[in-house]
Amino acid sequence: MSDERHYHPKTLAVRAGSEASAHREHSEALFLTSSFTFDSAAQGAAIFAREEKGYLYARVANPTVAMFERRYAALEGAEAAMGVASGMSAIFTTCMALLSAGDRVVCAREVFGSTYVLFEQLLPRWGIVVDFVALSDLDGWREALSRPATMVLVETPSNPTLEVVDLAALAEIVHAAGALLVVDNAFCTPAVQRPIAHGADLTVTSATKFVDGQGRILGGVIAGREEMIRGPILTLARSTGPTMSAFNAWVLLKSLETLPVRMAAHCDHAEAVAAALAARGDLVTVTYPGLPTYRHRDVVARQMERGGALITFDVGSRERAMTLVDRLQLFSRTANLGDARSIVTHPATTTHSRMTPEARAAAGVSEGLVRLAIGLEDPRDLVMDLHRALDG
Ligand SMILES: Cc1ncc(COP(=O)(O)O)c(C=O)c1O
Repeated sequence: MSDERHYHPKTLAVRAGSEASAHREHSEALFLTSSFTFDSAAQGAAIFAREEKGYLYARVANPTVAMFERRYAALEGAEAAMGVASGMSAIFTTCMALLSAGDRVVCAREVFGSTYVLFEQLLPRWGIVVDFVALSDLDGWREALSRPATMVLVETPSNPTLEVVDLAALAEIVHAAGALLVVDNAFCTPAVQRPIAHGADLTVTSATKFVDGQGRILGGVIAGREEMIRGPILTLARSTGPTMSAFNAWVLLKSLETLPVRMAAHCDHAEAVAAALAARGDLVTVTYPGLPTYRHRDVVARQMERGGALITFDVGSRERAMTLVDRLQLFSRTANLGDARSIVTHPATTTHSRMTPEARAAAGVSEGLVRLAIGLEDPRDLVMDLHRALDG
């Protein structure tokens, strides 16, 4: 598709990045091959030397993965993207490519459990200094970045507390300190939030979630400037192999076609469910970025098109939360999110169970917190299931 900049997201989702083979297929082809042949020894040498363009080995690049990467980059408003094996692989690959021993990273305190373990336990083993800051506290970020830092990582909205940070304000602070801003966009996808337009240098996104949208496969994607993606990130990736499989790329490429319409339905349904929960008045908290009562409503209005599909509420204790999870009949009990099927999760005992109770409390993951990932079922049925479970 020529000059994609003029098209709207729904068009890009369906059309961007396609490249037909010599057979002129309409739907994108799945290239299940681990390597590519050369017409001659000289051509092999030229492709390896980058004097001639061409595929050589699937750990480095594959046409199906490349189509997914171009389409995703177009949606994210990024110059380039790289597909990898999972969301964690996107975060880890980014860190390994851009950080060295002695560097300092500042990470938001409210992040997914595995991200917390990576930053709190693993990166320090390689001599990387890590500090944590409360996500929405801009003064905290200013203070933390008054000392040298190489990178900042945030999730906005955060998993599971649904805190947000003003991305444009944070980007200014991060860039004044000479650091890079990396934003985990798993909860929104570019259909709801485009962090690069608000100053982020890179996005890292679990494609396992809403990008796939049907709970089938693992995937991750890093998006940002060409010089970073095709430079240090590709250099690291081609020598360490966090590669996205061609099959998964093909599934995700097809999924992107429906991403804007699916996300709109997810958000419609989540709005209805959040309003019904908030109207009950008997829950300790109901948090949804799309509710008029949401505490950072102004930030949401500036950088998110909708409230997303995640809702949390607090029922007061671990015991009550576990009972509620068991009573739900329509919601699936699983630790994933971003599926057509609505999901209920108790973060303290699942996604965030590897954090200490103190770290969980500091990150706002209370024992009574329940996370809902709203799917594509009729929201009236979801509301009925929740009322029935809450009323016992
Ligand atoms: C915000 C966030 N980032 C990253 C990940 C990791 O993604 P993956 O499971 O694809 O590795 C998750 C998984 O739940 C997540 O919620």
